[in-house]
Amino acid sequence: MEPERELVLFREFGDGADQVSLTLHREDFSALYPGMIRFTLSVLSNKKIRAVFRTNSYEYSPLVPLKAETVALKTAEDWEDQLLINPALFFQDHLQEKPRHPRASSPDVVVMQGSPRGDGNCSILAGWAVETAHELGKTVQVIYPHDMSIHCCIGCYQCYNTGSCVFDDDMDEIIDAVRGTSLFIICSPVYTNTVTGGLKLVIDRCQAYHAERAISGGKQGQKGLLFSVAGRKGEVNFVCVTRVIKAFLRNLDIEPSGEILIDHVDAVKDIRLIPGLERNVREKVICLLLNPS
Ligand SMILES: Cc1cc2nc3c(=O)[nH]c(=O)nc-3n(C[C@H](O)[C@H](O)[C@H](O)COP(=O)(O)O)c2cc1C
Repeated sequence: MEPERELVLFREFGDGADQVSLTLHREDFSALYPGMIRFTLSVLSNKKIRAVFRTNSYEYSPLVPLKAETVALKTAEDWEDQLLINPALFFQDHLQEKPRHPRASSPDVVVMQGSPRGDGNCSILAGWAVETAHELGKTVQVIYPHDMSIHCCIGCYQCYNTGSCVFDDDMDEIIDAVRGTSLFIICSPVYTNTVTGGLKLVIDRCQAYHAERAISGGKQGQKGLLFSVAGRKGEVNFVCVTRVIKAFLRNLDIEPSGEILIDHVDAVKDIRLIPGLERNVREKVICLLLNPS
C-alpha cells in the first residue's frame, strides 16, 4: 500500500557538510483504517537519516487530550530549537535503533500448536503435519504459544508508526517464522466456542505484522490451514473458531486454504481412533505443499 504523502514542514540549518534538514510529512493511511493519518518527522545530514519520530491519529484514544498533528508539530518545534542550539548533542540523544532480531531464513512450514495440552489431540494433529512435511524434505518450525512469553496487545497502534510492536518478547520469534513461510498450519481446540487464550494472544499481537506488511509489503502466496477439535458434537461448535482464523489469516494476507474440523472428541478421547483421519490430514498437507500456487 502506497499512502498519499504530503510535505507539511521543511527547515534547513547550517551549510556545506554541516547542513541539516528537518522535514515533517503527513501520510494518509485511510485505505487501511478510516481516517488514519501518520506524521513522520525526520532529520537528515550528509544524506543520512539521523533521527525519526512518528505518530499516528489512532494512537490517541478518546480520553487523551492530544492530536497526532499537534504532537508532531510540537516535536518539530522542539527538535528545531535543539538543532539550532547544539546539533551534536541532538544527534547523540537520537541515536538510531538497530532492527530487532534479523533472521536469515524461514521454515517452509510453521505449525502453531494452539492447545495448552502438549499431549492432547491438537498435538497429534500437529505431529502428523510435521512428519508429513519432513517426509517431503521441508523445514518445519512448531510454535507452542502457551509456553512462550507473550504480552497481550494493548491497542496502542504504535505498530503503524514503525511496523513493529512496542513489546520486545517472544512474539518476534513467531512473526519471524510466519514472515517467510509458505504454509502456516494452525491447530486449536475449541475453548468456550472460540480459540484458546494463548492463540488469541498471538492473533492480536500479529497486528504488528499486519502493520509491517501495510508499511513495507511482504511475501505473497502464503497458505493457511486450520485443524480444530471440539469436545461437543456438531459442526456448530466451530462457527467462531473458523471465523476467527479466517479473519486472522486474511489480515496477514495469507490465503485460508482448508480446514479439518473434528467434533465429539470428548466421547472419542483419542483422535487416532477415528478411521481415515490421519490419512486426511496428511493428504491435505501434501496437497498444499506440492501445489503451492
Ligand atoms: C476451558 C475449556 C473450554 C472448552 N470449551 C469447549 C466448547 O466451547 N465447545 C466444545 O465443543 N468443547 C470445548 N472444550 C473441550 C475441548 O475442545 C476438547 O477437550 C479438545 O479435545 C481439547 O483439545 P486438546 O486435546 O488438543 O487439548 C473445552 C475445554 C476446555 C478445557
